[in-house]
Amino acid sequence: MRNMESTAIILAAGEGTRMKSSLHKVLHKLCGVEMVDYALAAAQAAGVERPVVVVGHAAEAVREHLAGRADFALQDKSTGWGTGHAVMSAQAHLQGEGKVYILAGDMPLLTGEDLLALGRAVDAGAAGAMLTAVLADPTGYGRVLRDAQGTVERIVEQKDCTPAQAQVREVNASVYCFRIPALLSALPRLKNDNAQGEYYLTDVVAILRGDGERIAAVETAAEHCMGVNDRVQLAQAEAALRRRINGALMRGGVTMIDPERTYVDAGVKIGRDTVVYPGCVLQGATRVGEGCTLLPNCRLLDAVVGDKATVESSVLLSCAVGAGTTVGPNAYLRPGTRVGAHCRIGDFVEIKNSTIGDGTKVSHLTYVGDADLGEGINLGCGVVFSNYDGKSKYRCTVGDRAFIGCNVNLVAPVAVEADAYVAAGSTVTKDVPAGALAIARSRQANLAGWVAARKAEGKL
Ligand code: UD1
Ligand code: CA
Repeated sequence: MRNMESTAIILAAGEGTRMKSSLHKVLHKLCGVEMVDYALAAAQAAGVERPVVVVGHAAEAVREHLAGRADFALQDKSTGWGTGHAVMSAQAHLQGEGKVYILAGDMPLLTGEDLLALGRAVDAGAAGAMLTAVLADPTGYGRVLRDAQGTVERIVEQKDCTPAQAQVREVNASVYCFRIPALLSALPRLKNDNAQGEYYLTDVVAILRGDGERIAAVETAAEHCMGVNDRVQLAQAEAALRRRINGALMRGGVTMIDPERTYVDAGVKIGRDTVVYPGCVLQGATRVGEGCTLLPNCRLLDAVVGDKATVESSVLLSCAVGAGTTVGPNAYLRPGTRVGAHCRIGDFVEIKNSTIGDGTKVSHLTYVGDADLGEGINLGCGVVFSNYDGKSKYRCTVGDRAFIGCNVNLVAPVAVEADAYVAAGSTVTKDVPAGALAIARSRQANLAGWVAARKAEGKL
């Protein structure tokens, strides 16, 4: 047994016609991450830092997405087609005596451990190892044919199967590990005299066996082999990934009221004793602290939520919310918003590109845009920061402990200093000094008997 150097080839040149999409199949996302990234992650988990990705259809888009993270080989369709041809296209990257993992870009549930199991079989002396699974319904997959002793003889594609072979339920996952010299000796001997007129990588197995080499078969769970060819399988694979993600979070101490209806992207972090209700969608680099409550129907994208915060039916985008703060229902926190600790951001409040100091309350029906608010402030109902004059945006500041009455407009740029009060209904266009009361509205006049007089004139 020797631990050989390893490299990896990820096949992603196919057209993926069954997706019916203008986007390349491997760039479709599952749990917020592009399909091909899961293949990359599996290869990296198996110790291959920089795999070779075979590109062909929509090569530029795939290259651009993976730039800096992989090397590329271009498969030229005019010289042949099929998974074997795809690997031939990457031959220039196959050197030395080590081993190579080969996997497809459309198998997001494959794990690094699956690859490592294949690698161990090759390290132990096999010329190659292939991943298999036993499926209830093997339709569409290549079948694994074994001899009387149970050793793998060859793989036969669905389209080339006899009716008896089609009964075999053990399938080829299309994931392999080969000793590089063995693979290189077999590739030139692949032929395309099959139902699809393609060079099948699967034929390498029979060729090496004909050479007297041993090919190991390693069985894995059916789910790990799930390939994505159409949108139905995309949804099925995403559901399976979601079960993995949510399972790991729950085992880490997060309570999910209904994990089947909780949508957490790969990479989101949630602290222990946080309770997540159904309909929450946590995306991107979102981080939720410990002991939080995410009530139903929240969407958090790249949001950071401190410990013991509560969020209900709200949208939080690229923003931060401090510990013990409550948000919602129906609040909208837009990019660049930083809400401090123990604040209250209530219903129908929109905040954009603003800082809100600790303990400040913005309880209802308010728009805060481009403003810096201190601590312990109270904004009444219906306060609007008028930050835009149709051409440029300006900032407002509100000092600590200021009290802004209901239905106030703060016309930026303007500053309300600490401990100042602004009377309800004011439109503030000038700075308010510390501790002052600003009233900026016309005085009320009561016209006695006005209604009766109008009626007498027949105008009411
Ligand atoms: C392949 C296997 C089959 C296995 C199944 C598992 C072959 C001949 N068949 O069939 O035994 O059960 O996977 O899912 O290998 N690709 C290229 N260039 C090509 C053709 C394909 O890069 O010329 C890529 C595709 O983008 C895809 C992967 O290879 O990522 C697999 O190709 P696909 O056509 O989906 O193979 P299957 O018919 O599913
Ligand atoms: Ca496939």
